[in-house]
Amino acid sequence: MTRKDILNDPMIGNKAEAFEAFDDIPTNPNLSRTIGEVVAARYSRRELFRGALAVTTTTALFGTSAMIAPKQAAAAGTSRYNFTELEWGNDTMHHVAEGYDADILLRWGDPITADAPDFDVMNQTAAAQLGQFGYNNDYVGFTALNEAGTRGLLCVNHEYTNEEVMFPGLGRQDKQAFAGMTPELIDIEMAAHGGTVVEIEKETTGQWRVDRNGKYNRRITPLNTAMTVSGPAAGHPRMQTNADPEGMTIIGTLNNCAGGMTPWGTYLMAEENFHGYFWTSKLDAEGKPDLSTLPDADAKRHKRYGVPGMWYNWGTTHTRFDIDVEPNEPNRFGWIVEVDPRDPEAMPVKHTALGRFRHEGCETTVATDGRLVIYSGDDNRFDYMYKYVSEGKVGEDRAANSALLSDGTLFVARFDEDGSITWMPLVHGEGPLTAENGFNDQGDVMIDTRIAADLLGATPMDRPEDAQPRGDGTIYLMLTNNSRRKPDQVNAANPRPESVFGHIIEIKEDGGDHGAAKGQWSILVKCGDPSVAEVGAMWNPETSVNGWFGSPDNAAIDADGRLWISTDQGTNWGATGKSDGLYALETEGEARGTSKLFFRCPVGGEMCGPYFTEDAETLFVAVQHPGTDGTKELAGFERDSTFEDPATRWPDFDPAMPPRPAVVVITKQGGGKIAV
Ligand code: FEO
Ligand code: CA
Ligand code: CA
Repeated sequence: MTRKDILNDPMIGNKAEAFEAFDDIPTNPNLSRTIGEVVAARYSRRELFRGALAVTTTTALFGTSAMIAPKQAAAAGTSRYNFTELEWGNDTMHHVAEGYDADILLRWGDPITADAPDFDVMNQTAAAQLGQFGYNNDYVGFTALNEAGTRGLLCVNHEYTNEEVMFPGLGRQDKQAFAGMTPELIDIEMAAHGGTVVEIEKETTGQWRVDRNGKYNRRITPLNTAMTVSGPAAGHPRMQTNADPEGMTIIGTLNNCAGGMTPWGTYLMAEENFHGYFWTSKLDAEGKPDLSTLPDADAKRHKRYGVPGMWYNWGTTHTRFDIDVEPNEPNRFGWIVEVDPRDPEAMPVKHTALGRFRHEGCETTVATDGRLVIYSGDDNRFDYMYKYVSEGKVGEDRAANSALLSDGTLFVARFDEDGSITWMPLVHGEGPLTAENGFNDQGDVMIDTRIAADLLGATPMDRPEDAQPRGDGTIYLMLTNNSRRKPDQVNAANPRPESVFGHIIEIKEDGGDHGAAKGQWSILVKCGDPSVAEVGAMWNPETSVNGWFGSPDNAAIDADGRLWISTDQGTNWGATGKSDGLYALETEGEARGTSKLFFRCPVGGEMCGPYFTEDAETLFVAVQHPGTDGTKELAGFERDSTFEDPATRWPDFDPAMPPRPAVVVITKQGGGKIAV
């Protein structure tokens, strides 16, 4: 039986035989040598860090989970995650497995600088918001400031805003032609986007607390944070605007979804649905954006990216977001932004060598020869998975390491039916990427990454979300769902038409080397309810009714190389009936494909983060937009949440306070590693 037969055989979906059958397929795992070991052999960790920073600590460098390989799986087919799984369900609270604490660390509006005012939800201002924790916390990263890892900088993305629960009396503005949006409300929204860097400390009680006097604390926003540009599109004519004729200085970052921490402790913010912030006043007879007055090439390019999406009306007061005024401004978003959390004065950098698309995340690791490798999905139906490999090698000098993000090659993935994956380079002048096809230089290839990848024949995927590398040359790719895939559009790597629940692909790079040009892929799980045959789910049968999930989104690898998955069902809550949460998904041994529920969101909240500290004793998760997603379809909560009538008032449960997105810190009662 070929692997294609296995994938397509409905008789063995969700059966133990399927997993056994997978075991017969040759892949090329190299678990004998981890990337951490390779790096350790090349550089002494302590030497590296001493050379890099004023503080002497080893935890920030090469402490990322992406350097870790899995420890041996338990022999007897049991999941290695030692906790009693949580029961599934829906209510207004968050829940964590027994024996753990899950404490609120930071909420929307909490002051994160010494001079910021206390949160006043009825009288919010943009000026106040610029010193307070932003909205819709998504990616969470941590970089230690001391050797023990008990003090460090939390780096948090603020992806977007929900005006209907943020501001009194508004409701969903996109459904009312933004009639209630004032210039001040727009500026508050902008100030609530972006990122936060804030110092946190673990007290002797084991509790984490925020230090609002931390000297590194800062907000990064699309309202007022200037950024510079590196790589092939820096200064490119298509990056130039009236406000920035050099094409080198961009105000802010948009829709920062997932992200990553580099091996040298900088914070990468992925710009995802940037198209939604662009505006036009030229509409066609159907009320859709009319791009006919733009040059054909520009109209085609903007359409491929969904620009202008008009999800927000910022372009009415900040005209750079109006494509009729600044047709090049959309080219300045959709990148990966690097922030040095240890230098509050340093300008963030948009690294254009990593391509422009709806970057879900940007997780880093290192090839066996020391080159930097970054994986990133383009979260759109039928879009692609990418990886970036630097030209130079990771070393002791932090500035030189950051330059690795400017000089390297971006590849796009083709998933073939025989179970192989081929990484195709996006290089100007090679293959179809020539002037004849609209690419005058490498800057054009990077600005129009999607169009270049189309020409190379990349495999259209079911919305690639987080792509999480592990130190042994393995990557876990979350494919969240794709309700629009028709039966004649399925391929081996995206095997379900109208995929409501998504799936997870495991990739093993050749030779266990993240720098490899090829690898092997297999499907780890097909999500959804395994008790309903029509769903076509595939889990290890040890997975209980609590453990299966839909719509995998973000992922993390813990200190033992184990995989954790967070879910975002969006409006599909009604399809599973389950709240979003965090799941421990076994990848090794006979228990491969067994999932257990560890943390559950309050109703309507999406699970983001997750991030483990290096000692595996602390897990940060982020609850995004509590109360808003899918509650209309969920028994007992049927409503479109508003400021006045939300489905939950988590986490404050104060009748005068709407629900607030918040970062939750999870520790084991009495201390110790999580799930060990
Ligand atoms: Fe922001 Fe792809 O989710
Ligand atoms: Ca998400
Ligand atoms: Ca991740």
